[in-house]
Amino acid sequence: MMASDDLDEPYAQYSEQFEPRAPKRKAPRSHKRTPPRAEAVSELAETSGMEAGFVTTYVPARYEEIWLRDSLRPFYDEHLIVDVLSQVKGGKEASVYCCTADPSTGTARLAAKVYRPRMFRNLRNDAVYREGRAILTAEGRAAKKTDHRLMRAVGKKTAFGAQVSHTSWVMHEYTTMERLYAAGAAVPKPYAAAENGILMEYIGDEQRAAPALNEISLPRRVAYPLFQEILRTIELLLQHALAHGDLSAYNILFWEGRAVLIDFPQVVALSANRQAKAILQRDITRVCEYFARQGVRANASTITNDMWARYGAAIDDDLAALFEPPAQIE
Ligand SMILES: Nc1ncnc2c1ncn2[C@@H]1O[C@H](COP(=O)(O)OP(=O)(O)O)[C@@H](O)[C@H]1O
Ligand SMILES: [Mg+2]
Repeated sequence: MMASDDLDEPYAQYSEQFEPRAPKRKAPRSHKRTPPRAEAVSELAETSGMEAGFVTTYVPARYEEIWLRDSLRPFYDEHLIVDVLSQVKGGKEASVYCCTADPSTGTARLAAKVYRPRMFRNLRNDAVYREGRAILTAEGRAAKKTDHRLMRAVGKKTAFGAQVSHTSWVMHEYTTMERLYAAGAAVPKPYAAAENGILMEYIGDEQRAAPALNEISLPRRVAYPLFQEILRTIELLLQHALAHGDLSAYNILFWEGRAVLIDFPQVVALSANRQAKAILQRDITRVCEYFARQGVRANASTITNDMWARYGAAIDDDLAALFEPPAQIE
């Protein structure tokens, strides 16, 4: 068995049921007596639900419950949320839940994004995004390159290294949202980060979560100003030496006439990633493709070149030369 599989152990059974696309795993050989099914279920019942302090209106699937409880516990413990109301979406890398916020937060609902246990192994080409990025600790600080034990574990993908990479991935999303929110960008307000998830402003109301742009068509008079607004947000990211890295109509929510950008774990450091311009171009192309369908004509290459001329000059060739050749973008 690969060492990184150890991380999934508590969710081994759930992963087949709740994540049907995951490859079937052989049960690990064990000399321990396996309890018969009925016994296993009653053990689970003893430690879940109200007894574990999680009164959730939302009824999770059987194995989702364990994962959800483990992932959301810090937010309960910190008195940030008091209930889980519904699953907003089960995405490819994460699931998002609408939670009732603790009154002390001053808001009614919060969105909890919880990463799938295997997400960092499913990621396409994550090496492209990691180039030039520091490894972030759970406190959101960059790990020291001189921490050889840590760097070796990450490089060799040991179970500990995989956990470090996972935490770093979550913290990149969270710290990016903090920076962008502080800069006035249209992103959900971040509230807290934990080992396996982030808690942020819920975009929507009691009836529904905000739709993503790909789910809706826009009236022409709305489409053009919204397109401009999104370009301004992309520029704001560039001013912070960042590119989104996975921007598309799927990762832009539309609510009360405004566009809100989400889904930042793969954010790219402009100054240290030699693929940054190609990644930016892809982000802008995808946005232009959606808006072309809404009747807005724009040339993605022209926009990219213009933005790159203004902000991409920050790329330092000497610094870039220090990195290994990056993997190809798909
Ligand atoms: N703050 C939020 N408020 C409301 N819905 C959200 C929020 N964040 C994410 N969502 C919903 O959850 C989906 C998945 O979230 P996302 O961050 O894009 O993760 P993934 O990596 O799974 O695509 C989004 O497409 C959106 O519909
Ligand atoms: Mg997404």
